[in-house]
Order: sequence, then C-alpha cells, then structure tokens
Amino acid sequence: MQDRRIDPAEPDASPNPGVQEGEESRPASGLRWIEEIAILGEATRLLENSFEVPPFDVDWDVGSVRRMLVELAGQLVDNDPYFHPLYAGQMLKPPHPVARLAWALSLFINPNNHALDGGRATSRLEQSSIRSLGRLFGWTDPLGHLTSGGTLANLEALWVARECQPGRRAIVASEEAHYTHRRMAGLLGVPFVPIPVDNRGRMEMAALDAVLERNEVGTVVATVGTTGWGATDPVDEILGRRERHGFRLHADAAYGGYFSLVSERFEAPTRKAFEALGACDSIVIDPHKHGLQPYGSGAVLFQNPEDARVYAHDSPYTYYTAPGGHLGEISLECSRPGAAAAALWCTLGLFPLERGGTFAKQLWEGCRAARDLADDLARDSKWTILNTPELDILVFSARAGSVREAGRLNRGIFEEARRQGLYLALFEAPAHRLLSAQPEIEVDQPAASVLRSCLMKPDHRSWRGEFIRRLEAAWRGSHGEAKSTRIP
Ligand SMILES: Cc1ncc(COP(=O)(O)O)c(C=O)c1O
Repeated sequence: MQDRRIDPAEPDASPNPGVQEGEESRPASGLRWIEEIAILGEATRLLENSFEVPPFDVDWDVGSVRRMLVELAGQLVDNDPYFHPLYAGQMLKPPHPVARLAWALSLFINPNNHALDGGRATSRLEQSSIRSLGRLFGWTDPLGHLTSGGTLANLEALWVARECQPGRRAIVASEEAHYTHRRMAGLLGVPFVPIPVDNRGRMEMAALDAVLERNEVGTVVATVGTTGWGATDPVDEILGRRERHGFRLHADAAYGGYFSLVSERFEAPTRKAFEALGACDSIVIDPHKHGLQPYGSGAVLFQNPEDARVYAHDSPYTYYTAPGGHLGEISLECSRPGAAAAALWCTLGLFPLERGGTFAKQLWEGCRAARDLADDLARDSKWTILNTPELDILVFSARAGSVREAGRLNRGIFEEARRQGLYLALFEAPAHRLLSAQPEIEVDQPAASVLRSCLMKPDHRSWRGEFIRRLEAAWRGSHGEAKSTRIP
C-alpha cells in the first residue's frame, strides 16, 4: 500500500490522489469514503430543517476550516491502514459506515447522555442498545450503560463490586488479564492477586482454589478473550466456586463478548465458558472492539438492577427536569457522548445480535480465518503455531534453534512484514509456550517476542493467500534474502 500524501497547499486536490482522469476512481484502499459523506449530507439536511428556531449567525470561516481539514488529512496518513484486510496487528476493526455516519450526524446536536436534559433521544437509544447487548447473555433488562471503553467499564464493575462488599477484599484475575485490572485494584485500594494460567492461557483452577482458601476475595475477574492469546477463562468452573466463597464474578468480555453469538461452534471448554456468562454479576463488552463502533464505545452491564443503589447521589445542580430514572443516576462518569449511543443503535438496527444472523456469520469468518491460517502455517516448517485459536487471535513464531533466536527472528519478520504491507503485532510470550510447540528448542531466556495476529475482519479469510505471500517475503527478507523486493 502506498502512502497517500495530501498537499495542504492544494485543498482542491483529488480525494483519490494518484488516480488519472478517466480512470475508475476507486481508491487504492478499495473504500469509497466519499460516498458515505453524501449520505451524511442528506440526513444532516433533514435534521437541520427539523428544529423550529429563529435563524442566527454562526461565525466561522469556511476557507480556514477547509484548510485545517486538508492539513489534518495530511497528518492522518501517518497511520497504519487499520481498515485493510492486510492489517492484522492490534485489536482494530473498522467501524461500520452506519456507525461513523450516525456518530457524525449526532455531533451536529452533540447530545450528552449524562441525563435526559442533555440527550433525551440518545438516552433512549442507549437504553435500547444496552438491552440488546444484555440479551447476548440472556439478560432481559440489565442495569448498564455505555462507557468510553473497556478500561472505564471494568473500573466501574470493580468499583460496584467493592461497594457491594465492604472491606478490603481482594480482586483476583489471571496473569493474562488486561494489565489495567491491577492498576484499578490500586485505585480502589484493594489487593490484587494474579492467578497463573495453564498452557492455553486460561486461569488455573487449582491456583485459584489456593488463593480462595488463603484470601478474602471480593471479586474474581474472568477474562473472556484475553488480549494476548484470545483465551477464555473457565467461567463455568469459577462459578462453581462462587457459592462457597461468596465472591462476585465479573466477566471482562471486552474483546470476546460478541462471540456469544457463535459460541455453539467452539470446543467444549470455550463453549461452556460462554454458556456460563449469564450467571456472572457483571459483564464488560466493548462495541469498539468487535461491535463495529468507533473508539469511545465500551459497555458495562450488571445482572441485578438493584446494584444501582451504589450510584446514589444527590447533586443539587442538575438532572431534575425529567421525572423518573435516567442514565446519569447509574453511571460513574457524568458527561458521555450521546453520539456513541446513536452509532451503536444504528448498527444494531442493521445487524441485530442474532445467532445465525449476518453479524454472527462475520464474527465466525474471523474465527475461521485464524483456524485456516494456523493450518496453513503449520504445514510449513518455517513456522510454529503457539495457540490453537479459541476466538480469532493467532499467535505464531518463526521456527528457531533457541528462544533468543526466535525472538530476534520474529522482531525482524515483524519489521519486514510492515515493509511488505502486512501488519502484525509483536507479543512477549513465555518460553514454555515456544517449548510446548517446538520441544527441541533451546530455552536460553525466559520469554521472547512472537507474532500475533488479530483476524477480526471477515475479509481476513479470503486474504489469507496474500497474507502468507507477504509473510513468506518477510521471512526471506529477515533472513537476508530478497531484502529489497517489496511485494506491490
Ligand atoms: C480483555 C480486555 N479488557 C480490557 C481492555 C481495555 O479496553 P479499552 O482499551 O477499551 O480501555 C482490553 C483492551 O484491549 C482488553 O483486551
């Protein structure tokens, strides 16, 4: 993929630089963003004409706004092409056009879902979206709301859990849980106890038992789709311990939550974990990961609406123009973008969360991409596969004589792959994961960089051939062969 530089001095430059006159004007990325904007124009006009207010002067200068935007476009090209099927690095999935347009349309109103005063319409859309997310886990009317992302959503769940069980009761989570859980335990002033994982990256039950016997545990965090390996903690087995030890069970399904729609396709341990999600006290799911939303869209859900008591406050300066409850009374944060609710609601309208529906099929395509790619790479002696994908994340390594050497090669391949227009992520894996995949490897250091790919886009599967072609070129390049040949 070529960098598409835009000259801020030439604001009239074609939106598709490099395309000659008379040529098909489809951009190199295959996208037609400009067509999306036309739809936005239509809806914006309708909205603008719907307010019955006297006209008033707005003081802004079209030329300078235009100049700044063109300059911004020049800045924004300094990004990887996250929207493209050859981007398979971090957890970045492009928002659906309906989500980004709904978000943009809402910005002309800029509703604030802190309370009904700030956004009646978008508060309704948020409540409706939360009910849709809740149904994923069999909850008909959960307490919950959108947040700026998974971290805030988890913080809120852990805060509510702490408030429901006074005392300095520990939070436990697996060693593979998102790093922010430890930080949040610090914020909440409670101990954090990490639990080791098994060789598939799932919380070890024997280790959890030992901790439960020794500590007063307030909350167990089960991760459903770990950030590194896409592994799923055994929620069902953890549940089996809840009655005896009286902890709250929180599921961090920020990444994996949407996969509830296809859980019947997973192998038994993963399937059972998903089936048990509905019995958790709280669940975090991030629409901005798998739910086709722009950033700024997480969600926290509580099974028991009575958890709302934790939020009680009596601020005298706002919220009193509407009778009844509203989102400001059940949220840790105050101001929140109504645009996020609008975007999610529109997306759910197009893609209802149904088993066997279009969205579910697309999620499963990503899982198939990970499985198929694992099979393809496993047939080639240059690679070792480090996880059997549970969801759509595949972790692999160049085969090497030692752990140190594997790390060196993988870092080289990562860089060379970027040069080839294939975008992966690096991930620090413990040596035992390399050893169990490649028993003859010399363990000369405790961990090494390995290659991680998040195959979140349905297109990843059909782009597998190209993925492998560029990966092979990167392997050759990092081994000193054909360094200068870049695949077009
Ligand atoms: C399992 C898990 N939990 C929480 C988070 C944090 O989410 P956010 O980046 O939206 O704050 C992530 C992010 O990757 C994650 O993978």
